[in-house]
Amino acid sequence: MTSKKIAGSPADPPARRALSARELSGELQHGQSRDLLHALHLLTPAGDLNADARRKLKQINHFIGLLRPALFDVLDQSEPATVVDAGTGNGYLGLLVYELLVGPAAAGTVIGLEVNAELVAKARKRAQRLGFDRMEFVQGAVAEFTRPLTNLAVVALHACDTATDDAIALGLRQQAKVIAVVPCCQAEVARSFNAARSNEPLGPLWRHPIQRREFASHITNVIRALLLESHGYQVTVTELVGWEHSLKNELIVGRKVQRANAQARSQLHALIQQFPQLRMGLLDAVRQTT
Ligand SMILES: C[S@@+](CC[C@H](N)C(=O)[O-])C[C@H]1O[C@@H](n2cnc3c(N)ncnc32)[C@H](O)[C@@H]1O
Repeated sequence: MTSKKIAGSPADPPARRALSARELSGELQHGQSRDLLHALHLLTPAGDLNADARRKLKQINHFIGLLRPALFDVLDQSEPATVVDAGTGNGYLGLLVYELLVGPAAAGTVIGLEVNAELVAKARKRAQRLGFDRMEFVQGAVAEFTRPLTNLAVVALHACDTATDDAIALGLRQQAKVIAVVPCCQAEVARSFNAARSNEPLGPLWRHPIQRREFASHITNVIRALLLESHGYQVTVTELVGWEHSLKNELIVGRKVQRANAQARSQLHALIQQFPQLRMGLLDAVRQTT
């Protein structure tokens, strides 16, 4: 992956250095306001972008850039679109999706789902202050969000552990046109290998804890992508930003193109059969709804 050189600091690794208010413009997307970045505390009171905030902004801007074509498909429909940001936290992604895409589209809604009531209260105030009147924050677990929605896109950036799966399940239940996730660290599947005997033929794959975590994380994301495909989504899996910026970096984007995909379904079935000890709540949740 190529990296962008920062003017005036050839020795600095990209996105590691703070940027002054004067240098900031090159980092902003068209239509991206300093007001929102201030409201999110990504900018200091003096308008500078510190190194951590710069990494965060880079991730989210890149995510939005990669999502833009898929979200335009939803926003271009005559029926107003809804974009659900699952595990929205401070609301970074949802607010930026609103500012850059849904707001300018003059129709459609963004809903941020977040279990932490304090974060929800702050995010609501931010949206109100910015005048984002087609944006809503709902407090509660993603899995408990049952409001029926059509012309839907579900996005999730680093939604913790199985909250990513809850976002996928929500999208599948509601036949979302787009489901896009950047998973966070995940422990659920690693636990099932933990309990398994490592002297089985495939056991060496997860004998050592670090390899167990990596293998479990990998197979979790493979299953997520294959599950989307089996439900008729065209799936791309790419790197979100360079690994030097974040270790939780796999972007899975699914666009609904057909009702179902029997070949992907049988591949998923065959894969799971290789690992009888594997336990993943998403697979159970989906079995119950299909
Ligand atoms: C690592 S933060 C990421 C926040 C935000 N998406 C971002 O990238 O800045 C994960 C957020 O998901 C929330 N969360 C975790 N599990 C959740 C669940 N099951 N339902 C709703 N929110 C959840 C946490 O409270 C936290 O705010």
